[in-house]
Amino acid sequence: HAGLVGIAGLAPHEIFYLLDEAEQWVELNRGAEKRRELLRGLTIINAFFENSTRTLLSFEIAGKRLGADVVNMAVATSSVKKGETLIDTAMTLNAMQADAIVIRHGSSGAVQLIAGKVGCPVLNAGDGQHEHPTQALLDALTIRHAKRHFNGLRVTICGDILHSRVARSNILCLVSLGAEVRVCAPPALMPDAIEQMGVRVFHDFPAALKGADVVMMLRLQMERMEGQFIPSPREYRHLYGLSLDRLALAEPDALVMHPGPMNRGIEIESNVADLVGRSQITTQVEMGVAMRMACLDVLTRRARKVEGWA
Ligand code: CP
Repeated sequence: HAGLVGIAGLAPHEIFYLLDEAEQWVELNRGAEKRRELLRGLTIINAFFENSTRTLLSFEIAGKRLGADVVNMAVATSSVKKGETLIDTAMTLNAMQADAIVIRHGSSGAVQLIAGKVGCPVLNAGDGQHEHPTQALLDALTIRHAKRHFNGLRVTICGDILHSRVARSNILCLVSLGAEVRVCAPPALMPDAIEQMGVRVFHDFPAALKGADVVMMLRLQMERMEGQFIPSPREYRHLYGLSLDRLALAEPDALVMHPGPMNRGIEIESNVADLVGRSQITTQVEMGVAMRMACLDVLTRRARKVEGWA
């Protein structure tokens, strides 16, 4: 039951295949009639054990636009609150004959665990500090729309790299596609030995910005910093916040990206987040729906007895 647990499991040609597949859905979503019946009769369950706005809504919209029945499990009012384990919850969803399960969970590895227990494809919507593969795919689609290629593209990812599954998946994806990836964070928020992922490490933000084609900003994940170093928002903004002055160090046409949710005035100034022609933040959300449509289509093909996935 091939699912999508991480970018780590994808070859470059598979990433390009998903990007290409998403293009038709970008077109469809921009038109007046947004619905197809490709997944008619299929049941997709979204089980989000952590909060989400973009990922949950876009998976729901994606499934519905393809004609599937989409059910969102309400974790806050579920029997998880009565002590039911993750595996028992997954087995319960499986017994309801789901055709795909989309999971977000606070524990790294939780999605892989469930993928091994159920009889349908499982899509990772973010697991702990591990991976958020559809975010990386939608970011790649956004970059390709603006820049047309990845080879040698200088992408600077700045923020709380240590806790960020978005950073991990983006590094894996962009390095695999041939980009030059730079990561920038205070030393306490940089994972050990991250160079082994094929990135250049910076602690000085202006140096990391010099000549960048894409600047991807991440928020401080305070909820994952219990008992750890917590920088003061004022100090962090001073050293690592993206202002117009700092953006001027990057290429004149550098893209500004942020996966959301943003903390305006901390990692990114409002006038940068809203910079017309440069900020891709709402485009990323648009591409998210198309990319999730592509993933749901491609990953349910085996169940639908349709050819076409590697
Ligand atoms: N980018 C992202 O994953 O946003 P949500 O947490 O709102 O889904």
